[in-house]
Amino acid sequence: MIAQGLEIIILAAGQGSRMKSNLPKVLHKIGGLPMLEQVINRAETLQPNKIHIVIGHKGDEIINAFEHKKHINWVWQKEQKGTGHAIMQVEPYLLASSKALILYGDVPLLNTESLAELCLQADDNNLALLTAFLDDPQGYGRIVRDDDKVTKIVEQKDANSEQLKINEINTGILALSSGSLRKYLPLISADNAQKEYYLTDVIALAKADELCIKTVQPDENWQIMGVNSRLQLLKLERILQETIGVKLLENGVSLADDARITVRGNISHGRDIFIDVGCIFIGNVILEDNVNIGAYSIIKDTTIKKGAQIQSFSHIDGAEIGENVTIGPYARLRPGASLGTDAKVGNFVEIKASKIGSGAKVNHLSYVGDAQVGANANIGAGVITCNYDGANKHITKIGANAFIGSNSSLVAPVELGENSTLGAGTVLRTDLAENSLGVSLAKCIKKSNWQRPVKKEHIAKTNKS
Ligand code: UD1
Ligand code: CA
Repeated sequence: MIAQGLEIIILAAGQGSRMKSNLPKVLHKIGGLPMLEQVINRAETLQPNKIHIVIGHKGDEIINAFEHKKHINWVWQKEQKGTGHAIMQVEPYLLASSKALILYGDVPLLNTESLAELCLQADDNNLALLTAFLDDPQGYGRIVRDDDKVTKIVEQKDANSEQLKINEINTGILALSSGSLRKYLPLISADNAQKEYYLTDVIALAKADELCIKTVQPDENWQIMGVNSRLQLLKLERILQETIGVKLLENGVSLADDARITVRGNISHGRDIFIDVGCIFIGNVILEDNVNIGAYSIIKDTTIKKGAQIQSFSHIDGAEIGENVTIGPYARLRPGASLGTDAKVGNFVEIKASKIGSGAKVNHLSYVGDAQVGANANIGAGVITCNYDGANKHITKIGANAFIGSNSSLVAPVELGENSTLGAGTVLRTDLAENSLGVSLAKCIKKSNWQRPVKKEHIAKTNKS
């Protein structure tokens, strides 16, 4: 994609005290991922040769959170003496000849197209800045132009009254050759209002050296917004969710309300899907054509095949749901639940690590765990697979077309043959062959003219009167 030799530097050493949190700021989540991971993932789409991340505050915790990102070069900045000082720590690791793109770990929603454009503009003779025009530029460094050409950046605290009126701001994101960084970094001083080494001083140095300073703007200003507080994080979360919702709608998914869907991961989907209000999608979810998701369902790492109907308040995690299956309302599918075509799982049913054959029904109040259920079996209300003996888990096998009467218990390991029937309330402890009947006959005692117990206060009242 981008020319060879791109390296990306992400600054994440700052404290983030306004979060009022024990968790390092960049580990706070947006779209279900730590904000730094959002930045890393976006950086990775540019296929850089290297990603360096500058850490300081709670750096160990940050490194630990990214054990799955082996390729990152973690660079310590023990004391935070400014953005320029942060980059100085990376300098010894820079490739001999490359483009460097500088990002912030607390600016999580940058669009990769804006970043790719920025990288395209930067080379040995050109430095590229991502800038934005804000109605309220308060707090940001200002882009100073002379005859339209960028000459320098002044920080808010160093700016004069004229400069404070400038509404073109420095987002902090820039791209330049590693050669330029190596050349100008040693020339930066901390002689300014904050006594910090400003990376932004590189701009005036480059300009004086006759480099051209190019600018690129993002399509929307929210892309460049940073997170300093929980309120700002929430606002960006809503913006992210809104963009995900709009994209789903554009791609053929109907939403009852685009403000009431949360996606913490990725939805791959077919056409003509309907998602009702309040649903949460986590991890990788695949929804095939004509799937319907009822209100307030939570769906994580699951594939739902064509035409399946998930009714409201269902929790589904790590499951595979076959074509035209009906689930819920109030069903719970746990990891390893796999339902064949046309199967039905009704209210208050829990299924774990079990294969439910096509057309089988588990309609009410059951627990099915570590089981294999054959096609078209019918599992009555309140049936339990007793899969756990207190120490180990065991398998239950239920043959095709089996019929299990309500409130039966199958004590695993146990097998019920094809076409067999269990009477209501049976406790099955040993295997039952195919085409057979199993019934536990607990005797029902009967007494005629039975007087039901009467409430105590009722007796007292009748005695008084
Ligand atoms: C910086 C820019 C400013 C710009 C603004 C955009 C400088 C001197 N100023 O402001 O022009 O408008 O960003 O938000 O560059 N960080 C470190 N080590 C440090 C200092 C900062 O890693 O020593 C990291 C922070 O964790 C943060 C980022 O750099 O992710 C920016 O730091 P911050 O203090 O928010 O920015 P400013 O210096 O105020
Ligand atoms: Ca600062």
